[in-house]
Amino acid sequence: MKKSDIGLVGLAVMGENLAINLEAKGYRVSLYNRLHPHTPQAVDRFLASQDEGKAFCPTYSLQELVDSLERPRKILLMIRAGEPVDETLAALQPLLEKGDIVIDGGNSHYLDTRRRQKALREAGIYLVGCGISGGEEGALHGPSIMPSGDEAVAGTILPMLQAIAAHLDDGTPCCAWIGPDSSGHLVKTIHNGIEYGDMQLIAEIYSLLKIKLHNDHEAMAHTFEVWNQGVLESYLTGITPIILRYRDSDGQYLLDRIADRARQKGTGKWSVEAALDSATPLEVTTQAVFARFLSAREQERARMHRLYPNADLSPIDELDTDELHHALYAAKIMAYAQGFDLLYQISRLNDWHLDLSTLATIWRKGCIIRSRFLREIATVYRQTGSYEPLLFTPYFREKISLCLPSWRKVTGAALRSGVAVPALAAALTAFDSWRCAQSPANLIQAQRDYFGAHLYERTDAPEGVLFHTDWDHPANAPHPSQPAPEQ
Ligand code: 6PG
Repeated sequence: MKKSDIGLVGLAVMGENLAINLEAKGYRVSLYNRLHPHTPQAVDRFLASQDEGKAFCPTYSLQELVDSLERPRKILLMIRAGEPVDETLAALQPLLEKGDIVIDGGNSHYLDTRRRQKALREAGIYLVGCGISGGEEGALHGPSIMPSGDEAVAGTILPMLQAIAAHLDDGTPCCAWIGPDSSGHLVKTIHNGIEYGDMQLIAEIYSLLKIKLHNDHEAMAHTFEVWNQGVLESYLTGITPIILRYRDSDGQYLLDRIADRARQKGTGKWSVEAALDSATPLEVTTQAVFARFLSAREQERARMHRLYPNADLSPIDELDTDELHHALYAAKIMAYAQGFDLLYQISRLNDWHLDLSTLATIWRKGCIIRSRFLREIATVYRQTGSYEPLLFTPYFREKISLCLPSWRKVTGAALRSGVAVPALAAALTAFDSWRCAQSPANLIQAQRDYFGAHLYERTDAPEGVLFHTDWDHPANAPHPSQPAPEQ
């Protein structure tokens, strides 16, 4: 029997759709799903839903799957991140041979992927850590794909992954070899971190529009629709009017019936952890993660509302939709600027040499944060020889400068009237902290030295020379500031 080009493990929706996509591009696909004692066999269920004559090969054990594949074997895991990946790899490893390639297409933590790559490499097996974005629809019609690992296998798997990826109008596939190690999973994690920030910002503007437009769903939908024709054009902007207009079976808006508790699977939190670990500011994503945590504390929110019913509010200032648009655009630039800065910092720390222009390019289609705006980021990074934060570049400097008055006005109005805009405000204060030539950290340094002799540097001495002061004895007394002995 003809061997398959690739094996796919995990027939949940993403796995199924990727299998259909692969087959449609001319690949023969072997399918395997772990047997569940009380549910019908997923492989049979899937095949029953497909037309006959398709190039699918059902298998009912990992051994059967492995035996059905062309060498070197390529196996795509589309299973839940965490333990299931470890378990599946442990079961697969003894069945595989040197040179075989396993591709983990789930949202695995990049440090887990690094550990697994190392373990499998000792057995001569390659593990490709591969971010895949685009949800169900992307998986079927073309996602954005971010593979990474040992470059020796890039040539073997890229043609297949690029065939199923989304393509830009000029034919560029939204899939490129990201780099060594587990960089693909880290990149996907930061993609999701940006996604969290973007969604939170849209949600905050929705809450302001709701007040301004008196909760008129049609008017709000129209506003997002218009915005989606301009610089804010993106997948997330585009789905918002559809959601706003959707009516339940009794004609009422469904959105108003959706519980306001946002859940999360972890990639937003991992982005924040990566930011903390690399000492990189990531306020917008961080606020988005915290806002989801707080949204889940529904009863506490209700109690706080009763305890502080008016919270010293002023009525919301007059804001026009253009001002809201500019505030959203500027804050979004901050969210992306921080996300790309985090990518750069982690790349530098790991010596990955990530190409930011390529990342922006492969996110232009297929993925959840796809947008017109990423084209500008790709262009900026293609033109910039050495890395610069996005806000340093003339293009984004001009945009921010244009939007800044509205950004301040909208954020100020929201703060005065008690509308929670954690990401919008964090973006603005992050911006102001960034452009603050004289920060108040001198006082923090002095306090640290006062209570703990933690030493400080002086503006009138070279960087790195440390001083300590006996703060309870003024400088004109016998104990002036002293250079600290070298540590
Ligand atoms: C994508 C998405 C996807 C993610 C969901 C849900 O790129 O296709 O990022 O990978 O799992 O967006 O994530 P949360 O449950 O954490 O919101």
